[in-house]
Amino acid sequence: MSDSILIVDDDEGVRQILAASLTSSGHTVSTADSGERAVALVRETPIDLVVVDLVLPRVDGLEVLREITTLRPETAVIMITGYASVETAIKAMKMGAVDYIVKPFRMEEVELIVARALERSQLRRENAALRRQLQMSWGLQNLIGQSPEIRRIQQMVEQVASARSAALVTGAPGTGKEMVARAIHFSGERRQQPFMAVSCAGIPEALLEDELFGHARGAGPDATSDRTGRIAAADGGTLFLDEVSGLSPSLQARLLRVLQEREVQPIGSTAKVPVDVRVIAASTGDLKALVAEGRFREDLYYRLSVIHVHMPALKERREDIPLLVQHVLARCCREMNVPLKHFSGDALRTLSEASWPGNVRQLENIVERSVALSFGREELGREDLPRDLLDEGALEMPLLHVGGDGFSLDEVLATYEQRMLYQALEHSGWVKTRAAEMLKIKRTTLIEKMKRLGIPLKGNAVAGAALVVEAADASRRTS
Ligand SMILES: Nc1ncnc2c1ncn2[C@@H]1O[C@H](COP(=O)(O)OP(=O)(O)OP(=O)(O)O)[C@@H](O)[C@H]1O
Ligand SMILES: [Mg+2]
Repeated sequence: MSDSILIVDDDEGVRQILAASLTSSGHTVSTADSGERAVALVRETPIDLVVVDLVLPRVDGLEVLREITTLRPETAVIMITGYASVETAIKAMKMGAVDYIVKPFRMEEVELIVARALERSQLRRENAALRRQLQMSWGLQNLIGQSPEIRRIQQMVEQVASARSAALVTGAPGTGKEMVARAIHFSGERRQQPFMAVSCAGIPEALLEDELFGHARGAGPDATSDRTGRIAAADGGTLFLDEVSGLSPSLQARLLRVLQEREVQPIGSTAKVPVDVRVIAASTGDLKALVAEGRFREDLYYRLSVIHVHMPALKERREDIPLLVQHVLARCCREMNVPLKHFSGDALRTLSEASWPGNVRQLENIVERSVALSFGREELGREDLPRDLLDEGALEMPLLHVGGDGFSLDEVLATYEQRMLYQALEHSGWVKTRAAEMLKIKRTTLIEKMKRLGIPLKGNAVAGAALVVEAADASRRTS
């Protein structure tokens, strides 16, 4: 596939020359005549390289660069600049541009700079892909932490890795449930065999059944051929059932049969296929409470929880926060090919004292975001952290913030409300009826508030928590 290049210049002549030449050397070229248009294009589709004129009306080259670094950190940017503004071009490089072209330019020179930039950005993309691959096969060494809680979990993972017994991993969103499931699989004797992950939440029952059990040809109008389900595909390895509380009663019964008989029967088939799978299930909510409420089969619960690992919330093991921050920071800087950055003492303190409702995933998001937005700076300060995190301290004592400008009561109350809601939802395993009881409000009122405050209606949608952060931030920028 050829590389995609976007040329941004308000001078039609320059656009045409560059486009013609780069197209003839085999690149896919698009053009934009303004910064606004360029940013819109990059937002729509990923582009490998953007060549942008520094001087543009309204949104200039530096602005475009800043947007692209945030939107698509993997896109390379080259600045075009007049001889007089080479210094600004150097500033652009500090902000993340990979190179610059000085006007008037010769086409051979441009070709060279473009080729070099593309090569480097491909390397960067490959690194990112490699990392994703590694994450697919993470072992115990990826489980960062030295709190007594994490140590105990690491020991437990080692002990049970090679057993065949089912395991249940519970914990709040983003605490590392899937990570531990993978660590168990990849530390054990089954590590060469498949690790199949299936999420049981939010999928229509029929689809999930098909996904798990597969079907025989002719089982339904769409079943034009045999299809192997995930259970059979995991043969010899591990089946990871994420959000297992999402299984309907009938699927719970079918799964129980698989575990008891070690056989799987595809939909519409009379034959049973023997399978040897280890099942690891994960649940955000309290599965035991669901058993008590009669919503999850007790026999299945005991089958699944032969080994039980509970992931503590990040705020219950604060000593791991600096380690995690360091780990994520190092990884980001490596990936972005920049020298290792660090947080100021103040910023670290804020990170260590935050409440982390979205746990490790939220911490990852915040650190990654701070690095991406810090450009050339080596030290990241408190001002690089999203406002939510900074305001947490203020919640306990909003009076401290009454300065010359005062504070917005609505905003403080909304943040407070949001946190109380998160707490109740976490305590109730995201069962809204129970959370509402806890807050002594009606369930419908709770849902209304969740919508208004941008809290995801599903427990495991932690991406939602990150969105809340982003949204709060955006509102600050516009205000
Ligand atoms: N102890 C840890 N060390 C390093 N990274 C961690 C640790 N725990 C979690 N993470 C990272 O945090 C992110 C969330 O972890 P994971 O997906 O395993 O959480 P989860 O409990 O399955 O979340 P959810 O309930 O939202 O599905 C991942 O990117 C993972 O790499
Ligand atoms: Mg998960």
